[in-house]
Amino acid sequence: NAASKGTYEFYMLKEICEQPTVLHHLAQTYLDQAGTPQVDPKITTGLSRADRIYIFAAGTSYHAGLVGKEIIEELTEIPTEVAFASEAGYHFPILSQHPFFIFLSQSGETADSRVVLQEAIKRKIPCLTLTNVPNSTLAREANYAMSLEAGPEIAVASTKAYIAQITVEAILAKAVGEKLAKKRAKDFLLKENLALAAEGIEQVLSTQDKIAQLAQKYLVSSRNAFYIGRGIDYPVALEAALKLKEVSYIQTEGFAAAELKHGTISLIEPGTPVIALINDPLTADLMRGNIQEVIARGAKVITIASQSLAKANDDIVLTNLNYYLSPLISVVAAQLFAYYTSKIKGLDVDKPRNLAKSVTVE
Ligand code: G6P
Repeated sequence: NAASKGTYEFYMLKEICEQPTVLHHLAQTYLDQAGTPQVDPKITTGLSRADRIYIFAAGTSYHAGLVGKEIIEELTEIPTEVAFASEAGYHFPILSQHPFFIFLSQSGETADSRVVLQEAIKRKIPCLTLTNVPNSTLAREANYAMSLEAGPEIAVASTKAYIAQITVEAILAKAVGEKLAKKRAKDFLLKENLALAAEGIEQVLSTQDKIAQLAQKYLVSSRNAFYIGRGIDYPVALEAALKLKEVSYIQTEGFAAAELKHGTISLIEPGTPVIALINDPLTADLMRGNIQEVIARGAKVITIASQSLAKANDDIVLTNLNYYLSPLISVVAAQLFAYYTSKIKGLDVDKPRNLAKSVTVE
């Protein structure tokens, strides 16, 4: 059954390994043979009339929102804001004339998000919840809901729900962009890229031994670590750092790579692990420069790069994918670094201290 661990030692690894299936399943659920999105027309129409989209979420779902913003803006040209629900609830954002709210929540029960939803209902703002639990509170109370179709996620650290959220955001973005007759939405080969992403994840999964060795060598006995990236790799760096913190207890920061030199580079000491994400063609050369800056201060750098941008000695090389969807593959390497670091340290990977799967208090 879907909620059993099967032969896996931990749910987290099982759920990481299920991700190719999640992508295939989402493509089947929400795209037709030709790759055209099949989304409730009320949702597409509502979104296409919006002059601004506001995304609210917490934790990993917030990070999926940051990636979603990039995809939505690229395909629909509708300005999109992302906010922590916990902040927006009591400091409501200034609204445009025709706002549309999207709530991202694996559980659909996060109290911080519910506060914003309640206020939105009062103000009659159209609300859509993307959740993995279709009967959840946030799904029932919003005007519209879409299922993430990721199957039960048991490990406290979220993995497959994150890539499902990004995928559903991309499906929505393509649907709305096509409705608005945006060329970039029509040209966006979502179905093909989801199939490629599934293959790319399989390929990352096949490098598990190498990731475990690198984790053992550079991360397990480290007190702190950094993930760095530019462009869409920056929000992925935030999620990657959160994953490592949650399950390994190593203090990790995700950083926009070029910002390090404006202050935080003072934390780099001989041996500090820095994991660099290199998937943005526009800034790949600049990333290499940023990597040299930390190497010069003694950092131990692990590189994760798309094949077309990779150099001979990069550590993890990823299948090429549309830039906007590259997080679907790159995050998996980070999930595995977190998993193996935690496991090698002998920690309870699925139930990190102090954390709950869903937080129903503000
Ligand atoms: C908790 C979990 C996180 C999760 C966050 C948001 O803090 O430990 O893994 O990202 O809640 O949860 P949601 O269910 O709203 O996505």
